[in-house]
Amino acid sequence: MKNISPAAVYLKDYTPSDYLIDTVDLEFELGETSTRVKSKLTVRENPASLSSAKKLILNGENVLLKTILLNGKELTKTDFKIQENKLIISAVPAKFELEIHTLIKPQENTSLTGLYQSNGNFCTQCEAHGFSHITYFLDRPDMMACYTTTIIADKEKYPILLSNGNLVASGSLGKDKHWVKWEDPFKKPCYLFALVAGDLERVQDEFITQSGRRVDLHIYVEKGNKHKCEHAMQAVKKAMKWDEDTFGREYDLDIYMIVAVSDFNMGAMENKGLNIFNTKYILASPETATDDDFLHVESVIAHEYCHNWSGNRVTCRDWFQLSLKEGLTIFRDQTFTEDTMSAAVARIHAVNDLRNSQFGEDAGPLAHPVRPESYVEINNFYTATVYNKGAEVIRMIQTLIGKEIFRQGLDLYFSRHDGQAVTIEDFVKAMEESSGISLEQFRLWYSQAGTPVLDIKDEYDPHHKTYYLTIRQSCPATPGQNEKLPFHLPFKIGLLNGSGEEMFETVLQVKKQVEKFKFDNISSFPIPSLLRSFSAPVKLHFSYSDEQLQFLMQHDTDLFNRWEAGTKYWVRVILDLVNDFQVKKKLQLPLGLINVFSALLQQAELDKWLLAEMLTLPSERYLAEQMTIIDVDAIHAVREFVITELANQLKQDFIETYKKNHSLNTYQFNLQEVGRRQLKNRCLDYLVHLDDFTLHEQLALSQFAVALKNNMTDTLSAIKYLTYVDSPLQGKILTQFYAAWKHDPLVVDKWLSLQAISKSPDTLDKVKLLTQHEAFDIKNPNKVYALIGAFARHNPVRFHSAKGEGYLFLTDIVLELNALNPQIAARMVTPLTDWKRYDIHRQGLMQRSLEMILKTKSLSRDVHELVSKSLQ
Ligand code: TRP
Ligand code: ZN
Repeated sequence: MKNISPAAVYLKDYTPSDYLIDTVDLEFELGETSTRVKSKLTVRENPASLSSAKKLILNGENVLLKTILLNGKELTKTDFKIQENKLIISAVPAKFELEIHTLIKPQENTSLTGLYQSNGNFCTQCEAHGFSHITYFLDRPDMMACYTTTIIADKEKYPILLSNGNLVASGSLGKDKHWVKWEDPFKKPCYLFALVAGDLERVQDEFITQSGRRVDLHIYVEKGNKHKCEHAMQAVKKAMKWDEDTFGREYDLDIYMIVAVSDFNMGAMENKGLNIFNTKYILASPETATDDDFLHVESVIAHEYCHNWSGNRVTCRDWFQLSLKEGLTIFRDQTFTEDTMSAAVARIHAVNDLRNSQFGEDAGPLAHPVRPESYVEINNFYTATVYNKGAEVIRMIQTLIGKEIFRQGLDLYFSRHDGQAVTIEDFVKAMEESSGISLEQFRLWYSQAGTPVLDIKDEYDPHHKTYYLTIRQSCPATPGQNEKLPFHLPFKIGLLNGSGEEMFETVLQVKKQVEKFKFDNISSFPIPSLLRSFSAPVKLHFSYSDEQLQFLMQHDTDLFNRWEAGTKYWVRVILDLVNDFQVKKKLQLPLGLINVFSALLQQAELDKWLLAEMLTLPSERYLAEQMTIIDVDAIHAVREFVITELANQLKQDFIETYKKNHSLNTYQFNLQEVGRRQLKNRCLDYLVHLDDFTLHEQLALSQFAVALKNNMTDTLSAIKYLTYVDSPLQGKILTQFYAAWKHDPLVVDKWLSLQAISKSPDTLDKVKLLTQHEAFDIKNPNKVYALIGAFARHNPVRFHSAKGEGYLFLTDIVLELNALNPQIAARMVTPLTDWKRYDIHRQGLMQRSLEMILKTKSLSRDVHELVSKSLQ
C-alpha cells in the first residue's frame, strides 16, 4: 500500500454551513466494553448558506452507526451513505429532528480524543475534532447549539456523573444503575462539550461574583489526592477575582467544575462549566511539587478560567482563527501572572518561552503565520506560534493603543460578539474602532510568518544636542513566503545618561523598512535601553559595547531590560568561547565577567527572584538558536566550563548567598519565599560544579536528605547535578528518590526526566531500559514527555550523539506512538524536523530517520504532515 498524502483544508475555502443545529440532546449509556450514544438534534437550513443545492454532511470517526431517525422515522440504507468519516443524508426538509444512535468503544481509545478512560474513569476531550469521535455531527466551531446531556452508568463504579452546565435531574435505574441530566443554558460549539464519569473525590469552595452571585467551585480528583488541591482552589478564586478587577469579566454559571485526569494530551481544556485538567496542573503539595509546578498550576488555571470569555462566550468561526482564543487567553493569563507575582520575572519567563520554542519554529520548515492559511491536521497547529506569538501580537496592540483603550476595545469585542463564532479580523476591528488608530499594516503580524530582525544604529551630534536612532527591519523567507512587507511595531525605548539617570522613555512606532528617529535636547551621548519589556517579538541587533551592557545590567530602570542586557552579554561571551572551542583554543573567561557576576551577587536591593534569573546563563537551546550550524557539543562544553569557572572563582560569594537564603521553614508559596528559594538554589547550581567535590557533595546531599519528604523544590535542585553528571552517587540517589516516591505518578515523572537529561555517556541505554520499567507507560502522555520528550528536547548532547542512535530510538518511539496516539506521536517527532540546522553528517542521519517514518504504512495525518513538510 502506498501512502497517499492527506488533503489540506484552506482558510480561503471557508463557507457557512448549509444547515444549523439549534439543540442537541445527548444520552450516554456507559458500559464496560462499549458505550451507546443517542443524539437528538433539531436542524434547520442555514439562511446564510451560499449553496443552492444544500447537503447535510455530518462528521464521524471510529463511531459505529446503529440507527438514524428523521422526524421519528427510521432511515433505510438508501437514504444515506457513509464515506470516509462522513455521513451524507440525501433528502432532508428545511427543518427537522434527527436522531442518531451510535456505538463507541472508549475502553479501546488510546488516542485520548473523544470519549476515553483514564484509570478507569470516563472523560472526554473534544477540541479540536473529538466530538465526531463520539457521534455523527457537524463538527465545526461555528455550529453553536444548546445542549442537554443524560448519563446512565453503574452506580458503584461511576458515582460521579458530570457534564456542562447545571444538574437538572437525577434518579436510579434498576438496582445497579443511576442517571443524571445536565443542561447547559449557553450556546456552545461541540468542541466545548465534556462528560466525566467515575469514582472521584471532591474539594469544594465558593466564590461571590462582583454582582453578588454565588458560584459553587468543585475540584474533582482521583482518590487519595484531595490534600493536593488547596493551591488549585485558591488559584481559581484568585483568577476569578482578577478577571473581574482587570477586565470586568464575571463568571456566568452557578457552578464551575474542574476534573483532574492522569491521561491527557495537553495541559488542560476549557469545556464550558466543566474544565478537564492534566493532574500535573492541579495537584500540588510542597513535598511533591516545585516552585515552578506551583506557578504553572496557577497560570494554567487562570488560562482555562479566562477562556470562559475569550473562547467560550466568544468563540472561533473556524480553526484558522485559533489564535483568536489562544493568543488572547495566553496574553490574559500572562497578565494575571505579572499582576499577581513578580512582573519582571513573569515577563522574563514569557520571553524565554517564546524564544526557546517559537523562534525555532519560525525559523524552520514548519514556520506558519499566527493565522495559518492551510492545515492538514489542525492538532499540529496548537503551536508556540499560535499561542505565544499570538499573545505577543495582542500585547503589541495594547502597547500601541494604550492600556485603557485596549480595555475598552476588549469590552467592545466581548459585548458585540457575545454568543458568536468570530474571526481575528473581528477582534482587530474592535480594537481599531475603540482607538481610532488604523491597524491596517499591523495585520501583517497575523499573515506573515518569520521573526523580524531589527538592525539598529545610533549617532549623537553634540553640537545640536541631538541623538538619532536608525532602525532597519527585515524578515527572513519562510515556506511559501519569500518576500515580506515591513511590520508595524511598538518599539519602547529609554535613554540613560552616563550616571545612570533616565532621560526619558517613549514608544516609537516603527512602520517602514528603514526609519530614522531624532531626539532633541539630549545633553550627552546617551546609553539606549532598546525594546524595553520586549515590546515586539523580534530579534534585535545593536552593537552594544561590553561596558554598555554591564552598565544597563546595573542601572536600567526597565527591569526586564536589565536582565536582557545580561543575556546579551552572556550570549556574546559564550559564543566567543564556542568559537575558541571549535578551533581547540584553550578556554579562558574574559576578565570582566567575574566582576560583573560578583557585582550582581551584591545587588541586594533587587528582588531575589529577579536576581536568580539574572544569575542564570542562557539555555543551551537559546544558544543553539543563535548559531548558523548548531554545535551541541561545543555549546554544552562551553556553558559548563563557564559555570564551573564562575563557581570556582566566586565560591565564597555563592556560599554566603546560599547560606543567607537557606531556610528550614515549612514550605510556603509566596513571592518572598519563592524568591529566596530560587536565589539559594541558583547558587547551589553553581556550587555543585565546584572542583572541590567534598564541599558540594556535602551541601547538596544535606539539602537532599532534609528536603526529600517535605520540599520538592529543594530536593530536585539538590540532586539535579549529581544525577546529571557521572557522579558515583548517581545510582544511590536515584534509588532513594524512587523508593520514597514511587507511589506518586507526578513525582515519578520527575525521576524519569532526571535520568533522561543525564549527560552520562550511557544515557540512551538507560532511557531504553526505562521504557521497560514499571514506572513507564507509553500510553500515558505525561510519561512520554517526562522520559522521551526530556531526552530528545533537553539533552541535545546525547540525543544528537554523532552516531545517530538517538534518532533511531526516537524513530521507533514515534512509530509506536503513531498507532496509539497520533497527537503525541506528532509532538515527539518535532526534534527531528529542524534537521537542516545541524552539520552535514547529522543532517544525513536525521533525514534518514524522517524518510523511514514517511515510508511507514498507515501513518497518521498528524505525523505525515510534519514529516513531509520538514523534508520539503
Ligand atoms: N484549548 C486548550 C487550551 O486551553 C488546548 C487543548 C487541550 C487541546 N486539549 C487539547 C488542543 C487537545 C488540541 C487537542 O489551550
Ligand atoms: Zn487555551
